[in-house]
Amino acid sequence: MSARRILIAGNWKMNGLSADATALAGGLAEKLKGAGAVNFEMLVCPPAVLIPVVAKAIAGSTMQLGGQDCHMNAKGAHTGDTAAAMLKDAGCGYVIVGHSERRTDHAETDAIVNAKAAAAHANGLIAVICIGETEAQRDAGKTLDVNGSQIAGSVPEGSTAANTVIAYEPVWAIGTGRTPTSAEVQDVHAFIRAELAKKIGAGEAAKTRILYGGSMNPKNAKELLALADVDGGLIGGASLKVDDFWAVATSA
Ligand code: 13P
Repeated sequence: MSARRILIAGNWKMNGLSADATALAGGLAEKLKGAGAVNFEMLVCPPAVLIPVVAKAIAGSTMQLGGQDCHMNAKGAHTGDTAAAMLKDAGCGYVIVGHSERRTDHAETDAIVNAKAAAAHANGLIAVICIGETEAQRDAGKTLDVNGSQIAGSVPEGSTAANTVIAYEPVWAIGTGRTPTSAEVQDVHAFIRAELAKKIGAGEAAKTRILYGGSMNPKNAKELLALADVDGGLIGGASLKVDDFWAVATSA
């Protein structure tokens, strides 16, 4: 039995208006309240502008709240960006950093992701640091190389099991309905934990949650979440419907 508590995290990406956010987050909070003691934690990461709406909808439940990105700097002339302290102030406990969509759309490098995770830590947020190979990298046999170097580059000094979660998201599995085999997922997760141990020590690495992300859904969640080194999921599409996201969580 692993000491790592399963984390079921929803990344809403750029979806929803306030009414949708209230219904989705409120519906999930009700399910959580009704379920009593559960063996998993739940997190929702709405678009930044909807964070206050969601904070209100989940009040009084154990649902956790997170941002989808933060800036590396504390404040200042960064039009359109959100500081980690602002997320914390709005009620967040987590922030996703280095999602592949940000690495691609906003040219975020490992060094940038590292600085963002450090900013999250400095403001008392748990950083969900995303890594994962593209299809071309996988086809070239570089899956472990790529994930190893992303761990080396993206995980800041001072990372611990308490302030850091890793999310392994093969880029080719995101939104495609395709996933690696369970054996492949387990192999990559075990490798990631070993690489993490080189950075933060074996003791902390053994306690750090490593999530799988990429087309996780109510059908495949049970098998993926049962893998030895899979400590939860980072879910996109299937996190946008109360019943689907709840079904993923309860299959843990
Ligand atoms: P999907 O679950 O839609 O494949 O998205 C995964 C993801 O990118 C979560 O961050």
